Amino acid sequence: MDQKRTNTRRIVLITGASSGFGKASAIYLSQNGYCVYGTSRSADFDKTPTDSYPDDSFFRMIPMDVRDTSSVTKGVSHILKNEGRIDIVMNNAGIATAGAVEEVSIEEVKNQFETNFFGAIRICQAVLPQMRNQKSGCIINISSIGGVMGLPFQGAYSASKFALEGMTEALRIEVKPFGVHVVLIEPGDFKTDFTQNRIMTKGFHQNSVYADQLKTALPLMENEERNGADPHQLALLVEKIINHPNPKVRYTIGKLEQRLSTLYKRWAPSLMYERSFMKYYKLLP
Ligand SMILES: NC(=O)c1ccc[n+]([C@@H]2O[C@H](COP(=O)([O-])OP(=O)(O)OC[C@H]3O[C@@H](n4cnc5c(N)ncnc54)[C@H](OP(=O)(O)O)[C@@H]3O)[C@@H](O)[C@H]2O)c1
Repeated sequence: MDQKRTNTRRIVLITGASSGFGKASAIYLSQNGYCVYGTSRSADFDKTPTDSYPDDSFFRMIPMDVRDTSSVTKGVSHILKNEGRIDIVMNNAGIATAGAVEEVSIEEVKNQFETNFFGAIRICQAVLPQMRNQKSGCIINISSIGGVMGLPFQGAYSASKFALEGMTEALRIEVKPFGVHVVLIEPGDFKTDFTQNRIMTKGFHQNSVYADQLKTALPLMENEERNGADPHQLALLVEKIINHPNPKVRYTIGKLEQRLSTLYKRWAPSLMYERSFMKYYKLLP
């Protein structure tokens, strides 16, 4: 069992730290003085890390499936038993489902929400009693620019991130009196395993009435992800947020045009925005 840390390192929990944003943030924070517990569905409590990190860094992977409340409770209890506190949580575990809203099954939408939305709520409910008691904490919920604008043929994914945005705004106000900060990060396109892990709805077929549009727009989006920014950038932003005395509600990160597009969505007349969005993804009739 890991020894209880006796120094002043802050304790970090990152869900989905086996790749992408989670892994980049776990490595960076652990190498910069934080004690990091990352999660993966395939990790093992007893396994020591195989990657080599500097001697004074602390990064352990623990098993957790955010769709399962008992798995979340077990993981959080493990950290509290070892460390006695949790200072920072990054709700990062996420999946994406592709497909037209008409064709995606209710089961697939539920599965999407179980990870991206209910998973984040499960984690918040598990860590908040401790954070309230210690009168401090920072929860960072990884949303998406797809949580600001509804992405065609990724409606289930966007819906899960819109839900995460609403929950975060509410939670932020609820826990402010207890010294706990809650923040959203809205990434644009980044190069991670996210693209290859995207699940296409079983309801999609070549004769679908949506086939032409989907086959036009989705590859454009996926191409932007494959050529996206380095997830290390998000790790730097996470460190900035957790050291800010009064972090903002939301931080958008990514290529300039994607950051600007979220501003455009928020401020432009809705039909004007929609038209330019459709034009960008070659979806204008
Ligand atoms: N990449 C982008 O362009 C982009 C843009 C905007 C937002 N995001 C968001 O960023 C977050 C991280 O994605 P990424 O790009 O880093 O993708 P990724 O490389 O595919 O990583 C996803 C992580 O989530 C974990 N995960 C998936 N289902 C899980 C579950 N049920 N329980 C626990 N962990 C689970 C995976 O771990 P295991 O499979 O090992 O369990 C993996 O570590 C997601 O919330 C995503 O929506 C990504």
